[in-house]
Amino acid sequence: MKQAAWLLVALAPAATAAADAGLGSPAVFSPASTPAFAIRDLAWLVVAVCAVIFAVVGGLLAWSIARFRARPGDAGREPAQVYGSGPIELAWTLVPAIIVVILFLATARSIFDVQKEQAPPGWLQVEAVGHQWWWEFRYPASGVTTANELHLPVSTGAQKRPIFLRLESADVIHSFWVPRLAGKQDAIPGKRNGLWIEPLEAGTYVGQCAEFCGTQHAGMLLRVIVHEPAEFERWLDAQRGPAAADPAAADGRSLFERTACINCHRVAGTVANGTFGPDLTHLMSRATIASGVARNDRESLRLWLRDPDHVKPGALMPAMQLGERELDRVVAYLMTLQ
Ligand code: CUA
Repeated sequence: MKQAAWLLVALAPAATAAADAGLGSPAVFSPASTPAFAIRDLAWLVVAVCAVIFAVVGGLLAWSIARFRARPGDAGREPAQVYGSGPIELAWTLVPAIIVVILFLATARSIFDVQKEQAPPGWLQVEAVGHQWWWEFRYPASGVTTANELHLPVSTGAQKRPIFLRLESADVIHSFWVPRLAGKQDAIPGKRNGLWIEPLEAGTYVGQCAEFCGTQHAGMLLRVIVHEPAEFERWLDAQRGPAAADPAAADGRSLFERTACINCHRVAGTVANGTFGPDLTHLMSRATIASGVARNDRESLRLWLRDPDHVKPGALMPAMQLGERELDRVVAYLMTLQ
């Protein structure tokens, strides 16, 4: 028992320290959303039960080794031969059975708490679509589409606002996992899965596609930015607006509209209406590109357009074969898409 308690004491600060280090490090033990708390509590129960089992089995083993080790003068003498014991067998069958039942009931309760198939009325609904290798996020009630960085409102005491995420996939199986917000849930082609989140603190939470989905599975990162309610409404309004039309970038825009970019990307209000790649209407409102692999600035954008494979080997975006001056013009245009 002492050992089990020691193990719990040793593990807790390690988990908390990992969670506190840097930008919302992905730790199941540092929840920030209602379903994530349920998962954390269940995880600790399982760790505690396992720690007790470890202490009992390890303790008995150590005791047996010490107590029954060979001693001088034992040579040739056989130890007492014991053939089974009713009470002991009953104990080692019943105790594990009881443990299994407890873990089963606790797990079943958490699953019912955490799972939802449908969005309850009044909840904010978001559709998340996994693509090789990026995330598309749609807000059906507002007609907003964005990529890789999911913006949500915090659910505060006065303004409870849980979020229902509808998960889909455009190609292979992906999995949406932001450990501080919820458990992981697969995005499966042809199937509609659901997940709910109720963030209780504003901030940025990082996650990762959690199902191997090809070359850039590891480069399919997720960011969830949780805002205060008013700030979230401002963000949504800005996303709903049309693409910026900066006359200074007209030259870059006409070049962009003559390249194959427009077959895969959409910029609302222009001829670009592709859906294979991320929507670029408000590209510059995002902090990262290529699903969190690179910072969204002039240099990264230029490098990404010139040679996507250099930034993200295996990425499905082709190199556009633009000259240096053309690259500058297209990047200048993209940088106006606030
Ligand atoms: Cu998508 Cu792994």
